[in-house]
Amino acid sequence: MAPATLLLARLAVACALALGAMAQLSPTFYDASCPSLQAIVRAGMAAAVQQEPRMGASILRLFFHDCFVQGCDASVLLDDSPTLTGEKNAGPNANSLRGFEVIDSIKSQVEAACPGTVSCADILALAARDGVNLLSGPTWAVQLGRRDTRTASQSAANSNLPSPSSSAAALVSAFASKGLDSRDLVALSGAHTIGAARCATFRSRVYNDTNISAGFAAKRRQICQAQAGASDGNLAPLDAMSSVRFDNGYFRNLVAQFGLLHSDQELFGAGGGAVDSITAQYARNGAAFSRDFVTAVLKMGSIGPLTGSSGEIRANCRKPN
Ligand code: HEM
Repeated sequence: MAPATLLLARLAVACALALGAMAQLSPTFYDASCPSLQAIVRAGMAAAVQQEPRMGASILRLFFHDCFVQGCDASVLLDDSPTLTGEKNAGPNANSLRGFEVIDSIKSQVEAACPGTVSCADILALAARDGVNLLSGPTWAVQLGRRDTRTASQSAANSNLPSPSSSAAALVSAFASKGLDSRDLVALSGAHTIGAARCATFRSRVYNDTNISAGFAAKRRQICQAQAGASDGNLAPLDAMSSVRFDNGYFRNLVAQFGLLHSDQELFGAGGGAVDSITAQYARNGAAFSRDFVTAVLKMGSIGPLTGSSGEIRANCRKPN
C-alpha cells in the first residue's frame, strides 16, 4: 500500500475504534438483562428526594465528580481501604460529597432484582438524571453500559476537579481537557441551580470580591465568619431564589451579581468573553438552558467509560470485588 493510503487506512481504524467505544454505550443496554432497573432507580431517588430535596443535587454532584476523575467509572464511590486510596478524602470531596448511602440502597435493590448485572457507574448516571427530573428539571435517555473501575486516583481528584476560586479561563481549560466546550461549561454549571455550599467555599467571595451585590454579600456574611473556624460548615443555597428547583434561576442570579461562588460569578461580568453571552442567553431563556444542559450532561456522561471486558460489575459500590 502507498504510504498515504496506509495512513488513511490507519486513520479509518482509529476512528472506528473511537466511535466503537462510544457506540458501546446505549440507552437500551439493560433492557433484556435488567428490565426493572430504571423503575428501581427512579423509586429510590423519589424516596430520597422526598425525604430531603437537596439529595437530588448531591447525587448530581457525585456524578460530576465521578466523570471528571478517570471517566465515569464509579471511582468516586470507592472507600479508602488498606489496599486502596479512594477519592473521598481528596480536597474537593472531603466533608463535602454526600449521598453515598442513597446509591448503596439503590444498588442493593438492583442486585436483588438482577444480580451481578448493573454497574455502579450506570446506577449513578441514572440516579443523577432522576434527581434533576424530580426537582422539576429535564429528563433524558441515559447512555448505559459503563463498567466499574478497580482503582481510584486521589491525586487526579485533586487536580482535575475545578476549585471555586477558579477564573473563567481556568474553568474553560479544565472542561476543555475533558472534551467539553464553553457552552458545556456554562450549561453544566447551571447544576448550581440546586443544592448548597459551605461557608468555607464562599468565604473569600463574600468578604473579598467586589463584583457581588452588596446586600447579598452582607446577608451571607451573617452566617459565614471572616475567619476559618466554627462557621466553616454553615450552608447557603447555591441559587438564592430556588435551590430545590432545577430552573434558570442560577443564571438570573449571575446577571444580578448574586453568584455564591467566585467561580460562579466568573461566568458573567468578570471579563470571561464568550461565557458571558451564554450566561446572558440562559438567564433570558430557560428552555435554551434546559436543552443545552441535556446535551452537555450526555457528553459528560460519556467521558472515558470502561466498556466491554474492562473493569468489572462491582457487587458493593464501596469496594472492588
Ligand atoms: C464549573 C466548575 C465547578 C466548580 C468550581 C464547582 C464547585 C462547587 C462547590 C465548591 C460546591 C460546594 C461544595 C461544598 O461546599 O461542600 C459545589 C456544589 C455543587 N455542585 Fe459544583 N462546581 C462546578 C461544577 C459543577 C458541575 C459541572 C456540576 C454538575 C453537573 C455541579 C454540581 C453541583 C451541585 C449539584 C452542588 C450542590 C451539592 C449539594 O448540595 O450537596 N457542579 N460545587
